Amino acid sequence: MTSLQKVLVTKTELQQRVQELGADISRDYEGKELVLIGILKGAAVFMADLMREITLPIGMDYMSVSSYGASSTSSGVITVKKDIDTDIRGKHVLLVEDMIDTGLTLQHLKQLFALREAASVRICTILSKPSRRLADIPIDYCGIEIPDEFVVGYGLDYAEQFRNLPEVWIVQTGE
Ligand code: XMP
Ligand code: MG
Repeated sequence: MTSLQKVLVTKTELQQRVQELGADISRDYEGKELVLIGILKGAAVFMADLMREITLPIGMDYMSVSSYGASSTSSGVITVKKDIDTDIRGKHVLLVEDMIDTGLTLQHLKQLFALREAASVRICTILSKPSRRLADIPIDYCGIEIPDEFVVGYGLDYAEQFRNLPEVWIVQTGE
């Protein structure tokens, strides 16, 4: 049985933080060639909101990686399931995530984009669980820090359910 427990982050709080992040990004990347790369599927909702808060011309693309497989513990190994089509050589890449947990996925992706000779690679996430961190990576744009609870909504799923909820919920999984 899976049941929604309570709202952890409201729609209004999400909107507020997305606006602030968009303003910060717009200020920091003024005059630079910026490409947002959303990590599917979770970041699709945040990405759509964030890009509309950025007041600069931007490129955008999506990529899909698997690090978790079927379970919810990080394997530390990522496989690129769908790559970007954009040539990012010499461009400023901003990786857009729904959640940074151990940080292992983003650590691998940062290395990948450095190898591809992006001019810079930064990270933007709407949610972060700092208490779960294993990889020491800087999060350049962090939306909201949350405790170590399994959450769904605003793009995040449990077994592909709940991605369309407009707020972030704590979910109770198991029997
Ligand atoms: P890392 O590599 O930072 O992985 O451990 C981050 C990815 O883990 C998933 N994740 C969650 N997904 N609710 C979810 O629906 C959660 O509470 C949660 N915590 C981590 C998510 O896919 C994220 O991109
Ligand atoms: Mg994800």
